[in-house]
Amino acid sequence: MPDTHQLNDLIARRWSPRSYNGREIETWKLRTLFDAAIWAASCFGEEPWRYICAPRTDKEQFDRLLGLLVEKNQQWARDAGALAISVAKKTFTHNNAPNRFAVHDIGTAFGQLSLQAVALGLQVHGMGGFDAARTRAEFAIPGDFEVGAAFAIGYLDGDGVPPAGRKRRPLSETVFTGAWGSPASFAP
Ligand SMILES: Cc1cc2nc3c(=O)[nH]c(=O)nc-3n(C[C@H](O)[C@H](O)[C@H](O)COP(=O)(O)O)c2cc1C
Repeated sequence: MPDTHQLNDLIARRWSPRSYNGREIETWKLRTLFDAAIWAASCFGEEPWRYICAPRTDKEQFDRLLGLLVEKNQQWARDAGALAISVAKKTFTHNNAPNRFAVHDIGTAFGQLSLQAVALGLQVHGMGGFDAARTRAEFAIPGDFEVGAAFAIGYLDGDGVPPAGRKRRPLSETVFTGAWGSPASFAP
């Protein structure tokens, strides 16, 4: 668990596990996760997020999403309680102009969903390791939508502790004031 500043407990306890226990996720919890996602902020209130989701109780659809993942991800994601793929609408609905914030906004929604998961005793693990082109083809995703990320949601196997030594680039190399690369005063 990060030991810095006054992090909110949900943020401090979130991590990306590769050790799910195969337990089904209650329907109300799945719904709540996606409610958390859709209550994210978005540019012009566009709500560019869409999802393809399969709980493990729907074996046919779960296996379909599992089959889109690279083998390395399949090895652990097969024990998740649900799999999903985010999709972003790349244009604004009110004027068809390109929405360059669409991917930003589905990231925000993913973050909210991930923290809601922690609050419900679950953990989420994002995955870029999947076949986005095949996802588009298999689900007939329209051209003005961008395939985002896959993610697994589930209950941890056993105690499921995060790997030792998790760390982040320091704030001094991340938050700038005045000039690019110049650390903000609060970011030592
Ligand atoms: C969009 C995205 C794609 C990712 N792709 C993969 C992946 O394909 N396989 C994997 O094992 N982890 C993947 N991760 C997990 C990251 O490696 C992980 O979030 C990062 O190492 C930080 O660890 P933490 O989430 O436990 O803090 C992905 C995470 C995100 C957000």
